[in-house]
Amino acid sequence: MTSTPLLSMFLLIISIHSSLFNHVVVSVQCLSYQQSLLLQLKDSLIFDASESTILVKWNQSSDCCSWAGITCEEGHVIGLNLRNESISAGLDENSTLWSLIFLKTLDLSLNVDLPLIPSRIGNLTNLSYLNLSSSFSGQIPKEISRLKKLRILDLSGSFYESSNLRISNLRMLVQNLTELEEFYLDSVNISAPGNEWGQALSSSLHNLRVLSLYKCGLGGPIHQSLAKLQHLSVIRLDNNKLSSLVPRFFGNFSNLSSLQLHGCDLHGTFPKEIFQVPTLRILRISTNGVLEGSLPEFPPNSDLQFFDIRATNFKGRLPSSIGNLRRLTHLYISNCHFSGPLPKSIAKLTQLVHLHLSNNQFVGPISSVHLEGLLKLLSINLHNNSFNGNIPSLFTLPLLEYLDLSHNQFSGQVLEFLNAPSSMLKSIDLSGNKLQGPIPMSIFKLRELEDLTLSFNKFNGTMQLDMIEGLPNLITLDLSYNNLSVNMRGNGSNISFPTGLLNLQLASCNLRKFPYLSHPHALSTLDLSDNQIYGEIPNWIWNVGITGLHGKIPILPPIIYYVDLSSNSFTSSIPSDIGNNLRNAFYFSLSNNSLTGIIPQSICKAGYLKVLDLSNNNLTGTIPTCMFALSYITVKLGRNNLSGPIPDAFRLIAILRPLISMETY
Ligand SMILES: *[C@@H]1O[C@H](CO)[C@@H](O)[C@H](O)[C@H]1NC(C)=O
Ligand SMILES: *[C@@H]1O[C@H](CO)[C@@H](O)[C@H](O)[C@H]1NC(C)=O
Ligand SMILES: *[C@@H]1O[C@H](CO)[C@@H](O)[C@H](O)[C@H]1NC(C)=O
Ligand SMILES: *[C@@H]1O[C@H](CO)[C@@H](O)[C@H](O)[C@H]1NC(C)=O
Ligand SMILES: *[C@@H]1O[C@H](CO)[C@@H](O)[C@H](O)[C@H]1NC(C)=O
Ligand SMILES: *[C@@H]1O[C@H](CO)[C@@H](O)[C@H](O)[C@H]1NC(C)=O
Ligand SMILES: *[C@@H]1O[C@H](CO)[C@@H](O)[C@H](O)[C@H]1NC(C)=O
Ligand SMILES: *[C@@H]1O[C@H](CO)[C@@H](O)[C@H](O)[C@H]1NC(C)=O
Ligand SMILES: *[C@@H]1O[C@H](CO)[C@@H](O)[C@H](O)[C@H]1NC(C)=O
Ligand SMILES: *[C@@H]1O[C@H](CO)[C@@H](O)[C@H](O)[C@H]1NC(C)=O
Ligand SMILES: *[C@@H]1O[C@H](CO)[C@@H](O)[C@H](O)[C@H]1NC(C)=O
Ligand SMILES: *[C@@H]1O[C@H](CO)[C@@H](O)[C@H](O)[C@H]1NC(C)=O
Repeated sequence: MTSTPLLSMFLLIISIHSSLFNHVVVSVQCLSYQQSLLLQLKDSLIFDASESTILVKWNQSSDCCSWAGITCEEGHVIGLNLRNESISAGLDENSTLWSLIFLKTLDLSLNVDLPLIPSRIGNLTNLSYLNLSSSFSGQIPKEISRLKKLRILDLSGSFYESSNLRISNLRMLVQNLTELEEFYLDSVNISAPGNEWGQALSSSLHNLRVLSLYKCGLGGPIHQSLAKLQHLSVIRLDNNKLSSLVPRFFGNFSNLSSLQLHGCDLHGTFPKEIFQVPTLRILRISTNGVLEGSLPEFPPNSDLQFFDIRATNFKGRLPSSIGNLRRLTHLYISNCHFSGPLPKSIAKLTQLVHLHLSNNQFVGPISSVHLEGLLKLLSINLHNNSFNGNIPSLFTLPLLEYLDLSHNQFSGQVLEFLNAPSSMLKSIDLSGNKLQGPIPMSIFKLRELEDLTLSFNKFNGTMQLDMIEGLPNLITLDLSYNNLSVNMRGNGSNISFPTGLLNLQLASCNLRKFPYLSHPHALSTLDLSDNQIYGEIPNWIWNVGITGLHGKIPILPPIIYYVDLSSNSFTSSIPSDIGNNLRNAFYFSLSNNSLTGIIPQSICKAGYLKVLDLSNNNLTGTIPTCMFALSYITVKLGRNNLSGPIPDAFRLIAILRPLISMETY
């Protein structure tokens, strides 16, 4: 090679170093014209030097083959990686990048603001790896079809934002890409019916192993011709409205390792043979509400690791052979129609991290053999089944963060446990069972605990609210509707409530006095109903649930946090300056009165309001638009005579803040 006239034209330097051990290292320096193409490229690109880790370091003083992001072969640049270099412009048709014709790999991913993909990309005919993911927008140029040596092509849009990339003719694009093994087009707008995209892929891409078409606007049904793509190992078609049966031929792909069809509007019966594919590791067919199926006997030596069939129409029992899934880390079968007991063989799933069985009809006890040895468990959700018997001692699982056993038939006492100080538990929900006896004090040593919900059980005995001080990270405490007597040391003013506490629910807890809350407006839920509170009402709270008032709304004190004047007989209009007295308020309810007139603009001065309830009155007029800018958690305006549409802005808040509950009708 060194004697060819082509190469002798260029400056070819072979440096020979002798190392201590007499080994000989040969390195070929960057050809000078390649180096100057790269420096011109750097000059033409607009990028943020403070974010760049590659381009920013390129300079004349060293050999370009030693630069970051560059791979060379015989002095030619064959690999260029400008991933996440915050390039925003300068990659147009005239860029010198398109003259780097020796390139075999090119990664321009994560330069999120670039406009169109230049058609001269078609000059880089030796490319086998091209990654333009999360960078460009607009039409994908047909010149990509000239890159016949491509083995890996990633044109995915950003996963989080919807990309504006479009393909107008998929068949043209892939027709000559016969070497393609991995093809990623996630969130690119293809909008083609099933026969069109199916045949385009199956007639050309015979070597395809990875097909990733997440959210591409694809139509269905899944076309039979795809059965030809026997090498497929990863199939990802989530969030396309395929309205399709799941084809049996997927079960014929001998290397199938990942099948992801979440939210595809699938129907019919899921073919059992797919479960039997020995190479299958990831199965995700969740959120296909009418897709029917049941679980087969699982073969021994299954490789299944991630199993997600949530929100489908699967029914029947969990087979005992589920214990064959020794590598399983995720078992998500919530919101289906499973019944019967949890097989004891579940104890063999020692790699299990997430176990979610909520909203099914499982029955029977969960004994100590079921779950207590599954030491990798991070979350357990058995919500809304009919499990019964004592609750298993899951508190001792060393990594467990999330435990939801709510709305079952568990009974008996919850025992104290030893490892509380080292536990990782963040969330415990045992509500809606038949648990009795005292609340185990070990719970109040769980330093990481954020949510504790024990309501609607039969816990009894006296419980000191002061225990809450052991839970510095607590956000939610709900002890409502048990047989508890919740007490406080002294007058309760010395309790230091966790600073992040948002929800405090102590309904029907035999409370005799108000807990003193130094920052009540930081709360979003406070429920002290159904208690026997008497004596002094702290100054931050006023007229909680006072009924029997009528006529005009009384003048509010200048500083007030919690105002509940619901279910009285007020017939006046709301004073136009009411907002002046509500500047600190977090809760304001006038519901169930007979108030007339409009909602005054001044309500918007109540900038801390979390709950605003004006429902069930005779209010008229429109909703003041200034309200749409405030961050309520609950707004109830229903059962009035309000007119005018609810502007989109309010809906937007509702989308952005999933906690919001809007009741306007
Ligand atoms: C991209 O670069 C930015 C800035 O250097 C950095 O903060 C970010 O983590 C990078 N993103 C990825 C996915 O590498
Ligand atoms: C030039 O490149 C060398 C090697 O990459 C680097 O160490 C040096 O900091 C660079 N100089 C400038 C001025 O960027
Ligand atoms: C490319 O260069 C040509 C000639 O110099 C010029 O006319 C054209 O506007 C340039 N195109 C772009 C996109 O900069
Ligand atoms: C493309 O690759 C082939 C085989 O590696 C090589 O012979 C040819 O010179 C390359 N062409 C260009 C333009 O880099
Ligand atoms: C480079 O690409 C342009 C635009 O696609 C094309 O017109 C030109 O012929 C190509 N040049 C080579 C050498 O392939
Ligand atoms: C393409 O780039 C993105 C972002 O850098 C990366 O996450 C992805 O794995 C790459 N695709 C391939 C096929 O290498
Ligand atoms: C595919 O390649 C053939 C033969 O080289 C050529 O005639 C045809 O135009 C190419 N098709 C596309 C879409 O580039
Ligand atoms: C996709 O493109 C088609 C036309 O090409 C357009 O009608 C459709 O609205 C686009 N879909 C999305 C989600 O942008
Ligand atoms: C399955 O994968 C193995 C190993 O990667 C490979 O040798 C074999 O050809 C593949 N079979 C199919 C049908 O793709
Ligand atoms: C699976 O493959 C076998 C053998 O190649 C073939 O006979 C059968 O028809 C295929 N089944 C489906 C559903 O494609
Ligand atoms: C709690 O309830 C159990 C039975 O449910 C009863 O034996 C016990 O005496 C009760 N304890 C208290 C303090 O009321
Ligand atoms: C609203 O006003 C109408 C007529 O003025 C009256 O019949 C009705 O009872 C009032 N409703 C409420 C909830 O006060």
